[in-house]
Amino acid sequence: MKNRILQAGSLSPSFDAALAEAFEVCALWKQDDPAGWLAQHGHAVEGVATSAQIGASTGLVGALPSLKVISSRGIGFDKIDIDLARRRGIQVSGTPGVLTDCVADLAFGLLIDAARRISASDRFVRAGKWKTGKYPLTANVGGKRLGIAGLGEIGRAVAKRAAGFAMEVRYTNRKPVDGVPYGFEPLLEDLARWADFLVMAVPGGASTHHLVSSAVLDALGPGGFLVNISRGTVVDQEALVRALVDGAIAGAGLDVFADEPNVPEALLRLDNVVLTPHVGSGTVETRKAMEDLVLANLEAFFRTGKVLTPAF
Ligand code: 8YV
Repeated sequence: MKNRILQAGSLSPSFDAALAEAFEVCALWKQDDPAGWLAQHGHAVEGVATSAQIGASTGLVGALPSLKVISSRGIGFDKIDIDLARRRGIQVSGTPGVLTDCVADLAFGLLIDAARRISASDRFVRAGKWKTGKYPLTANVGGKRLGIAGLGEIGRAVAKRAAGFAMEVRYTNRKPVDGVPYGFEPLLEDLARWADFLVMAVPGGASTHHLVSSAVLDALGPGGFLVNISRGTVVDQEALVRALVDGAIAGAGLDVFADEPNVPEALLRLDNVVLTPHVGSGTVETRKAMEDLVLANLEAFFRTGKVLTPAF
């Protein structure tokens, strides 16, 4: 007998097929009446396959009384009711490690693009404006000061990349990290005041909500750039829009937003911000590695009673 898995949403055709091969799968998003299906069959579901973006809500977990494991694609757990899972002894896994370099690459890409205005100057060329004018000068990246908020695996991978650009790195974190060569700043505002570039690499959720406030943006200052590859909730987005419009900071590179996929109109009109649609881990190679790990976590759980990469 195959174990019963509820798939909260489609990840990729190849993942969906591999999951259906290994388990007895209900694709919840294909049900005409998901609530009716849950009421009738929810009691038999043993596992959930989901992603950081789709999550596993309180309502969903509550409708699955026999649930033992949630395997998620991604490292953010802000859309999964972790407290409820913990209380009920449900194991939760994510996909750490396999996306680290990919997300750090995008962070650095956004940083360089924001400073050198690659996307904006591309629009300039496409609009035929080069024929009649010169593109304004931009800002250097090499040798500048990089502040990293959150020195987890992604933060450290961003710092590693900065070495190739001869940047000085400092960081803030809940506590200092042992064995790293970077200076520790206890307060984000002080880090922002020091930095030319501030990269947000903290987890989402209540504890980091609006960490980047107007005070932090003011501290970053008119020459400073913000890069966010973590969660939109980490930044006070209204304050950020104001800071970009008023020139309180020089620019930003954003992969995440407060209300995805909606991006404030004001940002769309600005040339000092680069916008990407939450694609930090969005490469063929990385998504394949993540999805293999989602499957491996489920298989390991049903074979040994333990997921490979637990969330807690
Ligand atoms: C992806 C992410 O957007 O890992 C995360 O928390 O936000 C990204 O990797 C997500 O996993 C896609 O499902």
